[in-house]
Amino acid sequence: MSSRMNRCVAFCAVILQAWPLAAFQAAPPTPPAVATPPATQDPNARPPRRVGGFVPGQQRPPEDPVETAHGKTLYDINCRSCHGADLRGGDMGGPNLLRSQVALSDKKGELIVPIIHGARQAMGMPAIGISTPDAEAVAMFVRSVMGTIGVQGMPPSAGREPPSILVGNADEGKAYFATKCAGCHSATGDLAGIASKISDARVLQTRWVGAGRRNERRRSAGPGAPPPTAKITLPSGETVSGTLAHIDNFLVTIKLADESLRSFRRDGDNPKVEVNDPVEAHRNLLGQYTDKDIHDVTAYLVTLK
Ligand code: HEC
Ligand code: HEC
Repeated sequence: MSSRMNRCVAFCAVILQAWPLAAFQAAPPTPPAVATPPATQDPNARPPRRVGGFVPGQQRPPEDPVETAHGKTLYDINCRSCHGADLRGGDMGGPNLLRSQVALSDKKGELIVPIIHGARQAMGMPAIGISTPDAEAVAMFVRSVMGTIGVQGMPPSAGREPPSILVGNADEGKAYFATKCAGCHSATGDLAGIASKISDARVLQTRWVGAGRRNERRRSAGPGAPPPTAKITLPSGETVSGTLAHIDNFLVTIKLADESLRSFRRDGDNPKVEVNDPVEAHRNLLGQYTDKDIHDVTAYLVTLK
């Protein structure tokens, strides 16, 4: 990033800090027209010079529509339950992003992506296990909504029913399932009747796409992912196995079958620790699905009644 841009970022941040919230709500004076660069601008190009005041939600270059659509799909899966279909806050306690200074100031994911990846865990927003390019697409979608809000702070879609998510092809979903999922699941075994158990297609989609995610809020909403286990081999050859409670470079703690906790100091490979996370495959798959794969597999899973 050029020093000039750094200065702009710092400067805009200062302005935003000082900007009273009321200024967003009252109709601001129409700013002087500024040339907006096309969406496909050279990423290394210098930022356009801003003339007049910075009015969030306006003067934004249009975002790439394909990326934005991809970001919307990921938003619906990963963020919507907490931040709402229209970004104004959801059932599970996420704040209104239309009033978020972070979202208003974000230019290319630099502020939103770290939050998606866990910067606000202490404040109740879990780390979302999506890749950086995917997180950038979500940030782009969020910006695209900010770009359409008027002075009332409402996206044009507010109040409308979300479109059905059942837009996939069940046969192609079945084929995808056979190659990517059937190693661990079966339509006549563990997933038989899953669509009767989970009758809302959107919930079903969130469940399978998010099966690798692990956080307490999600667990309270459903069974959640089974915890990882660890097997510890001491220098004596003795092995101890249990549910992984904590691990870092210096300490590993496991919960034994009788619920008691046992900790071991770690020094490199001593003792040897083997972690087995049953849903690691789900997290790895997250980076591989295309939107079409997700829609197709969901269209297939809803047939498993
Ligand atoms: C389990 C609920 C939950 C999910 C899922 C979630 N968030 Fe959040 N998010 C929160 C909470 C709670 C906060 C407030 C944290 C704080 O106070 O700093 C937050 C804060 C944020 C903020 C900062 C708002 C501000 O101005 O401080 C952004 C941006 C954000 N979330 C984006 C996202 C995106 C994008 C996703 C999906 C990829 C997502 N969140 C998924 C709960 C969630
Ligand atoms: C390497 C093994 C593995 C692969 C591959 C895998 N899964 Fe899973 N999946 C699991 C485990 C383990 C769980 C958690 C146990 C559970 O909830 O049943 C799980 C959970 C789920 C659940 C939630 C079940 C419930 O009752 O809540 C669904 C649905 C699901 N997976 C679908 C899929 C789909 C669709 C694919 C392919 C795109 C897939 N899985 C690939 C191992 C795997």
